[in-house]
Amino acid sequence: MDCLRDWPEPVVRVQSLSDSGATTIPDRYVKPPSERASVDPGDMVGIPVVDLAMLTDDVANCEATVTAIADACRHWGFFQAVNHGVSPGLMRRAREVWRGFFHLPMEEKQRYANSPKTYEGYGSRLGIEKAAVLDWGDYFFLHFLPSCLMDHDKWPALPPALRETNDEYGAALTKLCRRLLRALSIGLRLDAACLPVAFDDEGVCMRVNFYPRCPQPELTLGLSAHSDPGGMTVLLVDDHVTGLQVRKNDSWITVQPVPDAFIVNVGDQIQVLSNAAYKSVEHRVMVNAAAERLSMAFFYNPKSDVPLGPLRELVTCDRPALYQAMTFDEYRLYIRKKGPRGKSQVNSLEAA
Ligand code: OGA
Ligand code: NI
Repeated sequence: MDCLRDWPEPVVRVQSLSDSGATTIPDRYVKPPSERASVDPGDMVGIPVVDLAMLTDDVANCEATVTAIADACRHWGFFQAVNHGVSPGLMRRAREVWRGFFHLPMEEKQRYANSPKTYEGYGSRLGIEKAAVLDWGDYFFLHFLPSCLMDHDKWPALPPALRETNDEYGAALTKLCRRLLRALSIGLRLDAACLPVAFDDEGVCMRVNFYPRCPQPELTLGLSAHSDPGGMTVLLVDDHVTGLQVRKNDSWITVQPVPDAFIVNVGDQIQVLSNAAYKSVEHRVMVNAAAERLSMAFFYNPKSDVPLGPLRELVTCDRPALYQAMTFDEYRLYIRKKGPRGKSQVNSLEAA
């Protein structure tokens, strides 16, 4: 990973640009017209909402819920989960500590400045290509699991409640993801343990995104179109500020967040393991002139050094393996070098 030693250019915090009060954005953030955010006129339907109240640990006996989850993952790659068992109080506290972090003075945040080697810490770009067009957002990236990668000293020391709250949040979401992964297995008509066994030792990390107010939101994006490289993502967004758009055929659907819900989506690794039964769908983030937006993307990933390909049970004469096996460590180098590029990577894995 030597090529990932450092950023190719001095890092500019988007929050500083926003706070400067400039009325135009630097050219570096101006997207080509075809990539700019738009709200499609037909943007009325929403992604499915799935009630998880009846999803117990005994997922094999939760047929209706499993079917709803599996249908959403087959047709949309996305759903909003309600009654998911994580307390709204914890969700609110987690958002508040992270909002507190991004509102600290810049020199306090700079102590955690990240590099492309591990991406851990305070960052403002994804990808190391010189002169790339950048996204209008800052973020903080950290690990929960495996425990050898979890390091509290790399998490913000301020606000004072952040580390403890973040620990609690990580434990609650890991539990939720374990249950969802078992449900996804049943949804493929496999044993509940099938996907968890393929994941082996889970890798769990989080990217907290901060999208400052933008004076020319129509020219840029907070996060360019991408699919998530990992297993499954559980996203907590601001209840009142929209921004996330999900690709449906040729249009972009703006997600209208349901209060206290999580937005769950399939990542590339589950698309590969399921031999494309479940879809890892492109999404992007619009920014806003009136309001800043915070989101917490919790990534539930497979063990990073075992080669993953389609599950053996899902490969038949009628449906041969669509992907070649690759480790997640190798796989995620692509987005870490090139930045968000739609679905080009998982598409390129398709077996010839
Ligand atoms: C991500 C992501 C969406 C959002 O971090 O991968 O897609 O709404 N975030 O911030
Ligand atoms: Ni994403």
